[in-house]
Amino acid sequence: MQPPPVTASVRVRRAEVSDLDDLVALEESSFVQDRLSRAQYRKHLDSESALVLVASANHRRFLGTAVVFFRKGTTVARLYSIATTPHAQGKGVGSALIHASENAARGRGCRSLRLEVRKDNAVAIRLYERLGYVRIGEYANYYADGTGAFRFEKLL
Ligand SMILES: CC(C)(COP(=O)(O)OP(=O)(O)OC[C@H]1O[C@@H](n2cnc3c(N)ncnc32)[C@H](O)[C@@H]1OP(=O)(O)O)[C@@H](O)C(=O)NCCC(=O)NCCS
Repeated sequence: MQPPPVTASVRVRRAEVSDLDDLVALEESSFVQDRLSRAQYRKHLDSESALVLVASANHRRFLGTAVVFFRKGTTVARLYSIATTPHAQGKGVGSALIHASENAARGRGCRSLRLEVRKDNAVAIRLYERLGYVRIGEYANYYADGTGAFRFEKLL
């Protein structure tokens, strides 16, 4: 019998200290540069201005993560990072993490969620557009390797 689709059972929760090994491993397998270090993740777990989310499904306790930043004095939240483990990609985990990020931002009174994405990351760009994100600008030379970024925003 086929296992149930991941999408049907994705749960998103706040990350804990016990997730640090998985968070760092996923960061290393997902991004070549501009990575969050273990110390940075550790700091964000306890920070008022950051929210680290973890997606899981059925017996698979770690399928992906999203990091959202908040700042005092603004109703704009920032989706700083999102990644799904390679074997779980294309099954709705990224979408679930984005929805949870939006709900968390709304819960803190934010009116919009913004993000930057590499111009060459077609999978992520398509996902953001499908979920209602609109391109609001770009930054040249944004990433360490010189690649530019598109800026996207969704009104919540
Ligand atoms: C971008 C990313 C977070 C999306 O996560 P995900 O769990 O695959 O997202 P979803 O399954 O909800 O949706 C992804 C879409 O891309 C497609 N897709 C994702 N990975 C795919 C793959 N490996 N092969 C084919 N299609 C893929 C899905 O079918 C889906 O398409 P749809 O929008 O037409 O339905 C994930 O690809 C990833 O971790 N990439 C590496 C890190 C990264 O680039 N992060 C974003 C920049 S910070």
